Parts: sequence; structure tokens; C-alpha cells
Amino acid sequence: VRTSTLTADAVERGAFRHFMAKEIHEQPAAIAETLEGRVSDDRILPEALGPDASRLLADVRRVQIVACGTSYHAGLVARYWFESIAGLPCDVEVASEFRYRAHVVAPDTLFVTLSQSGETADTLAALREAKTLGYRATLAICNVPESSLVRESDRVMMTRAGPEIGVASTKAFTTQLTALLLTVIAAGRAHQLGRDEEARLVRALRQIPRQIETVLGLEPRIETLAEAFIDKHHTLFLGRGTQYPVAMEGALKLKEISYIHAEAYPAGELKHGPLALVDADMPVVTAAPNNDLVEKLKSNLQEVRARGGRLYVFADPAAAPAASDDCQVIALPSVDEAVAPLLYSVPLQLLAYHVAVL
Ligand code: F6R
Repeated sequence: VRTSTLTADAVERGAFRHFMAKEIHEQPAAIAETLEGRVSDDRILPEALGPDASRLLADVRRVQIVACGTSYHAGLVARYWFESIAGLPCDVEVASEFRYRAHVVAPDTLFVTLSQSGETADTLAALREAKTLGYRATLAICNVPESSLVRESDRVMMTRAGPEIGVASTKAFTTQLTALLLTVIAAGRAHQLGRDEEARLVRALRQIPRQIETVLGLEPRIETLAEAFIDKHHTLFLGRGTQYPVAMEGALKLKEISYIHAEAYPAGELKHGPLALVDADMPVVTAAPNNDLVEKLKSNLQEVRARGGRLYVFADPAAAPAASDDCQVIALPSVDEAVAPLLYSVPLQLLAYHVAVL
């Protein structure tokens, strides 16, 4: 018997109309909790991933991530991070596919599962399968300490998001991203990441709770935007780089709770077919952080406008396209490119929530 230390606040709605709204607003505090005790001013603390994690990470040559749904989208963001920051090849697969096919496992591959609940049957089965396949070690990034996934993995990093009661995953996603970026930085340190780069990334992570607070302050504006979606039957989400899985997550949130069909595409794929669907009845939502892909994204947005599409762009003010009748621009705080997926997920959650309420 284990007595829960949860307070009543953690499982009550308080002043919020729905648990989803409460959990969206809990993200700054939840992310700060994920970081607590794991970073100093500008370094990852060595014990963040458990005893002798540095030796294990130095041995690792590849990463395989397995998860479902929203957790899978967090894995897709992490693939960009593992390859660009840590220099480690990374594959990501949905658990219901991974568990039913044959595998060739390269030596010294780290097997990572992501799960809010730690009880998702396919993810658990994939972990059990992986344990027979010769992976170097298994790591679970999970929110429930008593879960099967945590008990059965070699190593764990708890996301510490607190109970997630709303059916649509929100704070579980951004805390998974936080835990993943910590893992990537720790792995990077064991491989190719310089001290200055580590300091830059840790500082960017430490600022993110405050920047998400600023985004939450945009809620009245997003609530007004949501009105444009309620009579629509289809929505398209576009993104490039790490914003492509963020777009996938935005589309999943919208379809799951508003029952409006939503699809995500890498913006550069638009011209290879789906552009044919775009017209004034299909809103197109995208994120435009200030990075080296933004000019390419803007030319994709021109293609949408040429088809009479209506654009809703969450953007860094320094990179935003010009606002016009057919292009609404919502400015978000400027952030380091690495942490942009955390920040840009939040307005998409708010949009899905308000469309559903309306
Ligand atoms: C979407 C959502 C689901 C879960 C998925 C995996 O909002 O909640 O897609 O992300 O069922 O669940 P966990 O993370 O508990 O393994």
C-alpha cells in the first residue's frame, strides 16, 4: 500500500470550465517541475538520468523511440533534436507498428518509450518485445511512477506533469518534450555538444515556462479566432522541421475534441497533391518561428493564398508574414529555435479547446 501525496487541487477543476483548460494553464508550472533538480544555471546536472547515465550515454550509438498518439509526436520532435544536437541517428515508430514486425537492431541502440500513463498496451508490448532484441538499455519517459512501463524499464525519467485528467493530452506533451530535450542534451554532452551550446540550450529551457505564460495571455485572441473554425469541416495544419510534428499534434488535438477533420502536412509537400483541397472553406494553420526554414514556409503560404485559402499563422514577430484579410498573424515571443516546439504547441492546444467549446 502506498499513500498518495497528491493534494486535492491536483485532481479538482478549480475555477476552470474543463480539465483540459486547467491542464493547458498548468504547463508553465509543470515544465518548471520537470526541470527541477535536473539543471543548474547553465548545465544539466549529472544525476538527471540516474547513476552512471553519462557512461551509458557515451556508449549509445543510435536511438529508437516508440510511443502512441501525442507521445509519438513528442518522439518525432526528439528525432530532430537527437540528430542535430547529440549527433545520434534516431528512429521513431508508433508502438502498434513496432510490435508486429521484424527488427534489425544496430549495436548500442538505446530503446526509449514515451507515455503519459505508462499503461498503453501497445507501448508496453513494444517494450517487452524490445527486451528480447538486444538493445543496449531501455529508458521510459513517463508521467506515472507506479506504472508498468516505469517498473519494467531499465531507466526512467519522470515527467512530473501531475495527474492528466482531460482526455486530450496537453501538459503531458510539453513535459515529455522537456524531458526529451534534457535527455538529448545529456547525450549530446557525451558525444559532440560543446559547453557553450549546452549552456545556451539549458538557458533556453529555463526561460520557457515564463514564455508559455505570455502565450497563455493570448487566449482571448485565440478564442476569437476559433469562431472562424466552427462551421468548417476540414482544417489543414502545416509545418517544417520540428514544427511538422507540432502541426501533427495540433491536428490531432482539433480532430479529437472538436470532431472537425484535421490533417497535418510538411509544408513543402503541399504542392504534391493536398494543395488541390485548399479553398476558403478549409482554414490553414501554421507556425512560423524565426529559423532558417521560415522563408521556405512563407513561399508555401503564398501557394495557399493563391488558391483562396485562409491562413492562421502563429509567428515570431521578426519572421512573420504580413497580415492581411486572408492571413491572420498571431505574434508569439521570440525563442531559441530548439525550444520553439514547446512554445508553439500551446496556441494550437488553446485553439482546439476553444473550437470544441464553441
Ligand atoms: C491524444 C492522446 C492520445 C495519447 C495516446 C498515448 O490527445 O491523449 O493520443 O497520447 O493514447 O497515451 P500514453 O501517452 O498514455 O501512452
